Amino acid sequence: MANRVPFIAGNWKMNLDHQQAIALVQKLAWTLNEAGHDYQGAEVAVFPPFTDLRTVQTLIDAEKFELALGAQDLSKHDSGAYTGEISGAFLAKLDVKYVLIGHSERRSYHNEDDAVVQAKTAAAFRHGLVPVICVGETLEELEAEGASAVPVRQTLAALAGHDNLGEFVIAYEPVWAIGTGKVATPEEAANVCGKIREAIAQQYGDELAGKTRILYGGSVKANNVAGFLKSVEVDGVLVGGASLDADEFSGIARFQKHIAL
Ligand code: 13P
Repeated sequence: MANRVPFIAGNWKMNLDHQQAIALVQKLAWTLNEAGHDYQGAEVAVFPPFTDLRTVQTLIDAEKFELALGAQDLSKHDSGAYTGEISGAFLAKLDVKYVLIGHSERRSYHNEDDAVVQAKTAAAFRHGLVPVICVGETLEELEAEGASAVPVRQTLAALAGHDNLGEFVIAYEPVWAIGTGKVATPEEAANVCGKIREAIAQQYGDELAGKTRILYGGSVKANNVAGFLKSVEVDGVLVGGASLDADEFSGIARFQKHIAL
């Protein structure tokens, strides 16, 4: 780990209604804190569905619970006749700090290409949200181009053309490792995260590259998280399935304990 605050992010995807969200966050408040704040030093965030955001925000406020709030998507537009879309302005009003952009499920099921991802990244910056830009290659792309070509290309495309780059996070999620139980090795993850950082450094300089957090995602569990976070290149994890279980997600957030052992 480098001198960057580790980031443990739970993407709930389309799971948990607002009542189930209350139950999970209350349990998390308990399990995350139970072992005497030993996840401190890491930033922990949850990314619930839109309909849960207000509920989770209220709970975090009431419990004075150190949990950052993220959304799973936003519109590239700010307001107007865009039925079904959610403005970054609305998210910012709910104390949402982070927003996932370009998750592979959005890229494949909603045809979100690099131009859409770039426009949504711009919208996040406009509203003071921190985009968590998701990049990653499919199995076919891995075989055709190697591991880092697609994630590097997607990263540079998302970052291009902004007047000012605000804070952002990159999440490297190989598509073949998402929800499959097939996990990248820590070496593979570190290698691609390192290549992404190198590309950011080449394009935007060492200072920005040095402070950008780059996460790994794809079948992360409490029993494999430490392997990823031992590497200086991997600054955190983006967790899907395992973030729906309070004990498992807390186990991931307490990764330092595993590393110390
Ligand atoms: P899983 O952890 O379920 O593989 O999902 C990863 C992911 O897509 C997080 O955004």
